[in-house]
Amino acid sequence: MRYIGCKNNLLPHIEEVISHQGVQNGVLCDIFAGTHAVAAHFKKIGFQIISNDLLFLAYVFGRALIQNNRKPTFYGLIDLPQTNAPSGLFDRVDPYLKVLNYLNQLDGVKDGFVFNAYCPGGINKYRRQYISDSNGQKIDAIRGQIEAWKANGAITDDEYYLLLLPLLEAVSRVTNISGTYGAYLKTWDARTYKTLTLEPIAWIPSEKEHTAYREDANHLIGRIECDVLYIDPPYNTRQYITNYHLLETIARYDNPDVYGKTGLRPYSDEEKSAYCSKTACMNAFPDLISKARAKHIVMSYNSEGIMTETEILNVLGQRGSNPKIYPIDYRRFKSNSNGAKKNKKKVQEYLFYVKVN
Ligand SMILES: C[S@@+](CC[C@H](N)C(=O)[O-])C[C@H]1O[C@@H](n2cnc3c(N)ncnc32)[C@H](O)[C@@H]1O
Repeated sequence: MRYIGCKNNLLPHIEEVISHQGVQNGVLCDIFAGTHAVAAHFKKIGFQIISNDLLFLAYVFGRALIQNNRKPTFYGLIDLPQTNAPSGLFDRVDPYLKVLNYLNQLDGVKDGFVFNAYCPGGINKYRRQYISDSNGQKIDAIRGQIEAWKANGAITDDEYYLLLLPLLEAVSRVTNISGTYGAYLKTWDARTYKTLTLEPIAWIPSEKEHTAYREDANHLIGRIECDVLYIDPPYNTRQYITNYHLLETIARYDNPDVYGKTGLRPYSDEEKSAYCSKTACMNAFPDLISKARAKHIVMSYNSEGIMTETEILNVLGQRGSNPKIYPIDYRRFKSNSNGAKKNKKKVQEYLFYVKVN
């Protein structure tokens, strides 16, 4: 999934900084985990993982990829009829594919929440066009079915998240946006004409016990202990809850009173990140670092962030002598002021490291 600040491309660098300290295993906490790219990578190479994020959408990743270690059996859906199985026998023997296939074949629901809130044919006065009418109706059918299975005990908690994550991934492949959900495009992008289709996610086998949380990092930090604390907070003033409001609402399916042209969901102060405001961040970040019970702290940040490199080094320096900063070359496209042409502007991505005394 496209997600601002996703660290898929930086995994080798993060691993290098950690292994350079001779750390090959132990407990790693990814406390601002987002898509869980970092947590998933370190789970795969044998670490025990604690992961966390404020958003429910991110928690879905955490439950499906981190806390869950096994292939789902879907015993409670054993009698599910198999409609139009595209690949015959294989679908009949793989329960995960069988259930996804069943959901993919559902008929759309005509008057559901997603259709009404985000599709042009729905009842919202703005005729928002985030999702085509047919895909919006399909999302309502699938999301409603997953919730009904959970409510009547037909699926386990792990299975619930192993169905929700493919749905969120599928939604992100057919939405009419240019990057985030802050606004929809005026004309329909080619991807919106594709039929929404769930695909299985690559769950990660493991014998270790991993835990996913959904809490404010500053609240959780006092209750956990780890060998490596990986910190990847937001860098700028844009709140993730507003940038990803549509996915968050589909994940929660809590029928909020979405408002305005872009259909934002209302959110409380607790759902806002302190790391998106300079004043709040300059309190929250030192508080987080001072409470961390970790042997090593690794942090991602970039040169356009709310905090300066010196500010970060000063705070890290309170927990260990000689904190390090590793610049990583990283290019980003940025719009010109008229939005017409794209220029390459160099943003310096950094990894910070301190060994805790
Ligand atoms: C830069 S992104 C992390 C990206 C992640 N490393 C990845 O690879 O996808 C920052 C994340 O921090 C989360 N966040 C912001 N403030 C938080 C807080 N106070 N506690 C926990 N998570 C927070 C956001 O929801 C967002 O997912």
